[in-house]
Amino acid sequence: MSHILVITSHPNPEKSQSVALRDQFLFSYQEAHPDDQVTHIHLEEAGVGCHDAQSYAELLEGKGGSRELADQFAAADKYVFVAPFWNFSFPARLKAYIDHIVMAGVSFKFTDEGPVGLLEGKKALFITARGGIYSTPEMAPYEMGCSFMEKTMEFLGVTNFESIIYEGVFREGADDRLSAAQEKARALGESW
Ligand SMILES: Cc1cc2nc3c(=O)[nH]c(=O)nc-3n(C[C@H](O)[C@H](O)[C@H](O)COP(=O)(O)O)c2cc1C
Repeated sequence: MSHILVITSHPNPEKSQSVALRDQFLFSYQEAHPDDQVTHIHLEEAGVGCHDAQSYAELLEGKGGSRELADQFAAADKYVFVAPFWNFSFPARLKAYIDHIVMAGVSFKFTDEGPVGLLEGKKALFITARGGIYSTPEMAPYEMGCSFMEKTMEFLGVTNFESIIYEGVFREGADDRLSAAQEKARALGESW
């Protein structure tokens, strides 16, 4: 049995393409893995925010709310991040969450050779929807959401990284791209 942690950032999940894909993925995942434990964190509801002086001090000491979030993160086996594509990445609240869970001694450690991730063997999935198309060579450098998450997971030792992306929501051919993303969500739910 695996423990899957689903981390969602969206101000209005009811009207989100990213969240709809998340639900499609989870429907398929839970059918295929009925015994797995699924825990949801909705970052807006949970009020996860940027560091202030107190939480920053706690982060450096490995204590407080950051420690609770980091411990919860480190205890899970699989991570699903869900967020819309905003201004070339994702909402700031997801970055704030990353700034809590990337904690020395919990999710990575410092060594004489440099930092080393402590979460080897785990898996991460990033689900997002984008208004425009960023998979072309000209636009790829402007895509700093999925690429940021992939590099951050790699830093923590999580090298098994997948994504489900519905891009070009506002562009011609959106229906076909949505169908492809939905199919990937269904298939990955079975196999992940
Ligand atoms: C604050 C904000 C910033 C956005 N920035 C971008 C952007 O940089 N590039 C883009 O292609 N679309 C951008 N969009 C459009 C969203 O990516 C698009 O609406 C997508 O469907 C969002 O996912 P959602 O349906 O889960 O909310 C932005 C939308 C908002 C509200």
